[in-house]
Amino acid sequence: MKQAIFALLVSGTYAFPWVAEQPGVDSSLFEARRAHKRQQTGEGAGGPATCPFNANHVAASPVTSKYPYNNAKNGLPGNGKGGFQVPATGDTAHAFVAPGPNDIRGPCPGLNAAANHKFLAHDGITTFNELVDAQQNIYNVGYDLALVLAVLGLTTADGDPVTEKLSIGCDATTRTSVNPALTGSEPGLDGHNKFESDASLTRNDFFTHNGDDFSFNGTLFGMMDKTCGSNFDVSGLSLYRKQRWHQSQVENPNFYFGPLALLLYGAASFLYELMPSGTHGYAPDLATISSFFGAEKQSDGTWGFVHEKIPPNWTNRVSPYSGTDVNQQIKLGPEYKNLGCPTALTK
Ligand code: HEM
Ligand SMILES: *[C@@H]1O[C@H](CO)[C@@H](O)[C@H](O)[C@H]1NC(C)=O
Ligand SMILES: *[C@@H]1O[C@H](CO)[C@@H](O)[C@H](O)[C@H]1NC(C)=O
Repeated sequence: MKQAIFALLVSGTYAFPWVAEQPGVDSSLFEARRAHKRQQTGEGAGGPATCPFNANHVAASPVTSKYPYNNAKNGLPGNGKGGFQVPATGDTAHAFVAPGPNDIRGPCPGLNAAANHKFLAHDGITTFNELVDAQQNIYNVGYDLALVLAVLGLTTADGDPVTEKLSIGCDATTRTSVNPALTGSEPGLDGHNKFESDASLTRNDFFTHNGDDFSFNGTLFGMMDKTCGSNFDVSGLSLYRKQRWHQSQVENPNFYFGPLALLLYGAASFLYELMPSGTHGYAPDLATISSFFGAEKQSDGTWGFVHEKIPPNWTNRVSPYSGTDVNQQIKLGPEYKNLGCPTALTK
């Protein structure tokens, strides 16, 4: 199964096959995007020289018979039945622990929160199995989508397909690579124009901010909150995605919005599909979303950063969020027509 997905991904069209069939989409862009790949180097933001090193790597806290969650283990399918509280009352092994200076965090709030709760290794050097298990146990991501995202993380975003290790942030090649001389550098999820793209919700563009495309930006979070009116649903977020797209067009001379940037519509759907809590009527409200993004409102009204945390008494979605579901949400982006996205694909 895993090998089959790896193979299909090489063709670049597996996860979102409809993209290549959209009228006017030049499928050769799946090739052309290689030329746009950039990664953090040396001393720069996200590069190997400044990437934290934790000598004490501890794997994720496993699920147990006492606290089974979806009982997803070893990269295999779990129960696929949500509606339960995460972390469970009494499960101290998955309590929030803020990352220390030696721990790696990156552009994905969903994975940062998972690492802060030890569903992924707390130092941010994770594995394929941890990624597949954590997505199911915390968010009730369906097994099919959990696999695709984990494979994308390891391949597209440059972890190591042999060791099956991935840095959820900066370049930790010495710890992820089977052999750095053979693999070259593995930039982790910070690596630009692989999985990480321009016009993110709360992260800067790579070129306008010296390669820092991964840190939380409170100004952007505030913009998102204002545009969405604190209701992070599909219509609010597509308006905000449009706003960000135009902002990047103006501010970033290197703006590149390739086919994989459509994954950003997928990530945007996670706010209203994966993050909402049963204890808040599954509303994508500000209390929930700000907790997952680690955003905290300051007395002057600006947004500061306090690390990504699963909100108190949080209960996850009931039915698994499948690959078909996310494709539906991604398609909504262009259909909302306020993004100019097909134009970006065909220019
Ligand atoms: C193996 C699984 C996953 C991988 C490899 C992954 C990777 C990434 C990457 C590389 C980005 C940066 C994209 C960009 O903005 O340029 C991102 C963004 C994001 N991810 Fe994940 N992700 C995974 C699972 C999840 C899950 C389960 C959630 C749900 C809670 C999630 C929520 C998000 C959100 C909301 C963003 C947008 C952040 C922003 O633009 O400010 N991700 N993810
Ligand atoms: C946050 O984003 C705004 C808007 O793009 C930008 O002007 C600002 O420089 C960013 N702040 C940081 C600290 O990167
Ligand atoms: C969480 O649930 C408990 C028990 O129902 C309740 O006492 C507490 O106020 C809740 N906390 C929050 C932040 O909702």
